[in-house]
Amino acid sequence: MNFQLKSASLHQASQQKSDALLVLVPEHFKGEKDGLSGLVQHTLSQGDLQAKPGKWLAMHRPSGMLSTRVMLVGVGEGKPAHIRSAVQAGWQALRAGTLPLKTLSVVFAVQPEAAAVRAAVTGLADASYVYTTTKKAAEARTLDKVLVSVPDAKPLQSAFKLATATVLGVEMAKEWANRPANHATPTLLANAAKGLASAATKISCQVLGPKEVAKLGMGSFMSVAQGSHEPLRFVVLNYQGAAKTVAPTVLVGKGITFDTGGISIKPAGEMDEMKFDMSGAASVLGVFKALGELQPKINVVGLIPAAENMPSGTAIKPGDVVTSMSGQTIEILNTDAEGRLVLCDALTYAERFKPKAVIDIATLTGACVISLGAVRSGMFATQDHLAEALMQAGAAAQDLCWRLPLDDEYAEGLKSNFADVANVGGRAGGAITAAKFLQRFAGKFDWAHLDIAGTAWKSGAAKGATGRPVGLLLSYLMGDKA
Ligand code: BES
Ligand code: MN
Ligand code: ZN
Repeated sequence: MNFQLKSASLHQASQQKSDALLVLVPEHFKGEKDGLSGLVQHTLSQGDLQAKPGKWLAMHRPSGMLSTRVMLVGVGEGKPAHIRSAVQAGWQALRAGTLPLKTLSVVFAVQPEAAAVRAAVTGLADASYVYTTTKKAAEARTLDKVLVSVPDAKPLQSAFKLATATVLGVEMAKEWANRPANHATPTLLANAAKGLASAATKISCQVLGPKEVAKLGMGSFMSVAQGSHEPLRFVVLNYQGAAKTVAPTVLVGKGITFDTGGISIKPAGEMDEMKFDMSGAASVLGVFKALGELQPKINVVGLIPAAENMPSGTAIKPGDVVTSMSGQTIEILNTDAEGRLVLCDALTYAERFKPKAVIDIATLTGACVISLGAVRSGMFATQDHLAEALMQAGAAAQDLCWRLPLDDEYAEGLKSNFADVANVGGRAGGAITAAKFLQRFAGKFDWAHLDIAGTAWKSGAAKGATGRPVGLLLSYLMGDKA
């Protein structure tokens, strides 16, 4: 999809020729003397339109306007969340019609904040996304050109650029997370990373296979892969936008391309959704895609331990003890707690970059879904400043998270009689005990962990990846505050 930002008064917008004009109307709207302003004022004063977020009124070729359809949508106070829901409600209603919808003008009736422009762009892209990779008969994406009109475009250019790059990143993350596991094996995922790097400037990619990973001593990561015919891959992405001496931020994405649970096998119902268990990895790919567009003066490393978690004659068994790259031994009491087993070795590997901070992103626990649902991702951090920055980044991107605690008492259940640590610690506080396990491998740098088990995809009729938390991560990396 092609997005453009333009300065335009309401009168100028009314002279744009597109399949639909989506006019965002705030409460207490006062327009000029042009026809469109008059129309908006009239519908408001007559009670035909309410300026509440998501309320709309559609018209066909109103006189004096060049677009086929004009839709007025209320945006309340114009807060980013309101803009997002308004744009999405408008899009749903427009899409329900049968008229062609290839070009769309989104018109801000009053000058918006940067975050509101971003919400309009990312919200519209989100709503109009169509997965086609293995569904060839899917309705071809209808929307291909979106013109965003604001009274004054100049102060909004950089927010707009971040927004369109975020869209590309989110779409890359959705694409890879949505792919079924037989179209997104560890090898294919690694190839996608290589392809991304070769198409971009300042991004390089190195892929390690079973031999190299064994040489590094990643016994924990390897143990998860050993039950599958699909060989593991360890992806190292590097975005170098600053001098080599500048410490990078390291992003680590859980890349379980399918999680059956292994010998501790999951129930059959909804097991298909475990193809999304590489959403953390997909979000890392998405961030790198966007960095390639934005070219910021920072350094970022992306690490993806990718493997399939399968039950088989070669699979790990409950009670098996493995040795991680850090030297710590791990008793695997539940083979379904495999995410932490692949992440811990990637965290140890991250030490070599002497990072400014390490953030891992993982669909780690069902317990996090119970705690926070689908609204906010779980966030853990060993430093308050890092937690604060991630909270603000989430708010700026409308990709929210919430901090959970890391008290040492939560690690009590991870004690083992046969190894330095066990990979599970009981049902209570499951998202936190998982984080406490990871923390043991994150002692040498500032560290945060995002549990995206509830936010990375939607179930039910709208089943599909969300592309989260690409927006949050990009906001964080670009230093964007709410
Ligand atoms: N990938 C799952 C977590 C998950 C479950 C995400 C459901 C989204 C929805 C993870 O590997 C897992 O199986 N975790 C276990 C951990 C348990 C065995 C301690 C879980 O949450 O049940
Ligand atoms: Mn699992
Ligand atoms: Zn998993």
